[in-house]
Order: sequence, then C-alpha cells, then structure tokens
Amino acid sequence: MIGVFDSGIGGLTVVRALMQEIPSYTIAYFGDTARTPYGSKSRQTVIQYALEDSEFLMKQGAKIIVIACNTASSAATEILMENFPLPIFEVISPAVELAVQSSKRLRIGVIGTRATIASGIYEKKIREIAPRAKVYSVPCPLLVPLVEEGWLNKSETRMIVKKYLHPLKEKQIDTLILGCTHYPILKDIIQHKIGKRVTLIDSSLAVANKIKNFLRTHPAINTTMIKDSAAKFFVSDVTPQFEKTAQALLKKQIRLESIRL
Ligand code: DGL
Repeated sequence: MIGVFDSGIGGLTVVRALMQEIPSYTIAYFGDTARTPYGSKSRQTVIQYALEDSEFLMKQGAKIIVIACNTASSAATEILMENFPLPIFEVISPAVELAVQSSKRLRIGVIGTRATIASGIYEKKIREIAPRAKVYSVPCPLLVPLVEEGWLNKSETRMIVKKYLHPLKEKQIDTLILGCTHYPILKDIIQHKIGKRVTLIDSSLAVANKIKNFLRTHPAINTTMIKDSAAKFFVSDVTPQFEKTAQALLKKQIRLESIRL
C-alpha cells in the first residue's frame, strides 16, 4: 500500500497521477481537512502534523509514504526520514528537476503557500542544480481556501490569480512551478493569466514516475505491497464540499472515512 497525505484536497492531484502511472497499487490517502491549511502554520506545527499523518498511514499498512504537500515536504521531509523506517517521497525535488530541464532562459517563477515560500527551499534546490538560474517566488495564501471551497471557476478566483501572478509576469519568467499540490486544480486559470508561453510545472506525474521506478528497482519492497484492492480515502473532517471536489478531480465515486488523529 502507498500512503499519501496532504492537508486537504491538493494531494489528490498526486493520487490521480499514481492511479494513472501505477494503477495496480493500492493507495491509502489521508487529507487532514480538520487542520487545513498547513501553509499558514508554523514549521513546528507542520512537522508535528506530518509525523501524525505518517504514523496513521503506517498503521494502515503503508510501505511507502508520499508527502503530497509542498508545505509538509519543505518542513518535515528530513524528520520523517529519521523517524520512519519506510521510503519517503516528497514533491519538491521532482518539480525542481522538471523546471530546470524545461526552462530555456532559466527564469523560473515559484508559487506556493506562505510557509513553502518562506522556507526558501525551491530557490535552494534550483540553485544547487542550476546556479545561474533566476528564481522569483510569490506566496499565494488565498488559493488553497478557494480550491477547498470548490471555487474553481469563479471570477473572484480569476481576479486573485491575476493579482498574484502580476509580479511574475513582469519578471518575464518562462517556467512556473506550481509549488502547492492544490494549484494544479487551478491550472487552466493560472495558464491563462500567466500566458501560454510559460511552461507550468506540476510535480504530480514526476513523483508518480519516481515511485514507479523505485518499485521496479526495489523488489523486496515491491513484493510486500498490497495490490488490486480499492483506494481508501480518510479525512479528519468530512465535508460535502470535499467529497464533491474530490470526486470531480478523480472522476469517480469515492467513499470518505472520517478519522480522529
Ligand atoms: N497542498 C499543500 C501544499 O502543497 C498545502 C496547502 C495548505 O494546507 O496550506 O503546500
């Protein structure tokens, strides 16, 4: 079983990619809807939540943990690696690798939650592999609540996206990293507002491919994985809105199980 967690609905973009790339592996998803958003919490709090989320998934039988949240990836990857005897995958490195490969002029924009942008992790990782890159980062704290509310095609959402992207347009970026797993859900609006010449980087497919390769090259773990049973979706607070957005995103009926951590 592959355990995937996020603060809410955003990590389902990673689940969608996993279902597409490695459909026979069972997934357990945990969306921490009672404590979302993570992006405006302190690093210490995000670390504590990430430890609890991983613990829960491990108890469900996860043999691999995917941190499908940039905020938790930036704050807690190392600590999770130290605390859990499982392979841990995060969403930042695959996005950075893809962005550097696809950017011709190395003018890269990053949008994310306040916590992710304040951590400086994208700049650091981009410069490690492309020291000449110019990186421009903008926190977009209002986008997560808009997605969680299902305001995916409202004029207010388009207006807010436009305002956030304005400084990046002025910097003439050629590549934009969607540094929050909620943002691919707004991909069309973001592409429209930043312009079609800018390549959008969504790490979900890259993460799924990393896991696929990992399983191919680690038969000892691969053979312990539960396959061919339906995905399970756990949330810490069931809301009709979550269910609706999740089903629209995954294009299928899902049953949410409510749990208390
Ligand atoms: N989807 C998450 C991320 O990738 C976080 C959203 C939030 O809880 O603030 O950062």
